[in-house]
Amino acid sequence: MYFKFLLPLVLALAATTAVSLPSPQGRNEARIARRVGGAPRSLLKMGDEQNSTVFAGAVINEPPGTFMSVSASFKVPAPYVPEGADPSGNYSAAIVIGIDGDTCLNAFLQAGVEISIDDGQQSITALAEFVPAGPVAFSGICVTAGDVLTVNVTATNATSGTVVIINQSTGESGYMILTSDVPLCQQDAGWLVADLGVSLPDFGTVIFTDTLAETLSGPVDASHANISDIVQNSTFITSVSSLPPNVSVTFI
Ligand SMILES: *[C@@H]1O[C@H](CO)[C@@H](O)[C@H](O)[C@H]1NC(C)=O
Ligand SMILES: *[C@@H]1O[C@H](CO)[C@@H](O)[C@H](O)[C@H]1NC(C)=O
Ligand SMILES: *[C@@H]1O[C@H](CO)[C@@H](O)[C@H](O)[C@H]1NC(C)=O
Ligand SMILES: *[C@@H]1O[C@H](CO)[C@@H](O)[C@H](O)[C@H]1NC(C)=O
Ligand SMILES: *[C@@H]1O[C@H](CO)[C@@H](O)[C@H](O)[C@H]1NC(C)=O
Ligand SMILES: *[C@@H]1O[C@H](CO)[C@@H](O)[C@H](O)[C@H]1NC(C)=O
Ligand SMILES: *[C@@H]1O[C@H](CO)[C@@H](O)[C@H](O)[C@H]1NC(C)=O
Ligand SMILES: *[C@@H]1O[C@H](CO)[C@@H](O)[C@H](O)[C@H]1NC(C)=O
Repeated sequence: MYFKFLLPLVLALAATTAVSLPSPQGRNEARIARRVGGAPRSLLKMGDEQNSTVFAGAVINEPPGTFMSVSASFKVPAPYVPEGADPSGNYSAAIVIGIDGDTCLNAFLQAGVEISIDDGQQSITALAEFVPAGPVAFSGICVTAGDVLTVNVTATNATSGTVVIINQSTGESGYMILTSDVPLCQQDAGWLVADLGVSLPDFGTVIFTDTLAETLSGPVDASHANISDIVQNSTFITSVSSLPPNVSVTFI
């Protein structure tokens, strides 16, 4: 099976495969004005706003060894050719929840879906990966647009993780145990839509609900996370808003 789920950099070099929390490239670029989607908890101090070339969503950075698991639910969007874009082009995005991959790039563990249009064909695949190893598809899970999935990514320890995807429509679930020779730092928690180095499809809006991360000092949600938009060629490709503890990412 063909996956584009790759580190954007790797993709640029070889059009092959792998999911990834995108590189931190661009995360220290200029800040953007936060677009907070509503009032209820607006007094909470939020994190920074960041521009990224590759990912949009929410990320929390903490000291090494902080995060044990990360979870959230989202409704899987269908990918469409963006208005005005080449209808014969290929488009791909990953919607992932993960540990590390932002300030720690040696290894990271993440799971979610890749939504793509290849040669006019839409495809949606549930995947997980423990980078530096490549992505692994969940066997026996056939995801369709409109499914509400809950994803839980747990680091059993720095080199072993469990990823679980539950279909809220049916209660069906799939899980995988992934291991790595390269240890996690367990210092980033992310809820992200990622550019995989192809072109982004129009994914409408992805809302991460029930964001949660388990840390050594208890659970946290994305309320105080840093927010990142994808900005390419000085153009905003996404609009991220935070209605704690939900985070929504809209293709614009
Ligand atoms: C936000 O990002 C800055 C660096 O850009 C980092 O120092 C800070 O810890 C981050 N905040 C959160 C809540 O992750
Ligand atoms: C992930 O699943 C494990 C096992 O059920 C649970 O202990 C943990 O609290 C979950 N983590 C999150 C962030 O929901
Ligand atoms: C789209 O991807 C397919 C592989 O899935 C490839 O064969 C085809 O050449 C690509 N088309 C374009 C326009 O890049
Ligand atoms: C989830 O359930 C829906 C409704 O039964 C089904 O169409 C879909 O294929 C299921 N998806 C997964 C990921 O199991
Ligand atoms: C990490 O956890 C896995 C699964 O429980 C276990 O097999 C492995 O020995 C552990 N590794 C370390 C370094 O503790
Ligand atoms: C978060 O999303 C859930 C599920 O869609 C919704 O019920 C809840 O009202 C949302 N919370 C906020 C603060 O918007
Ligand atoms: C963005 O800019 C680069 C370099 O200036 C150019 O090669 C590329 O075609 C541009 N992409 C879009 C989508 O405009
Ligand atoms: C983020 O990128 C946009 C588009 O290039 C730019 O206008 C904006 O200034 C950047 N953010 C900040 C705070 O500079």
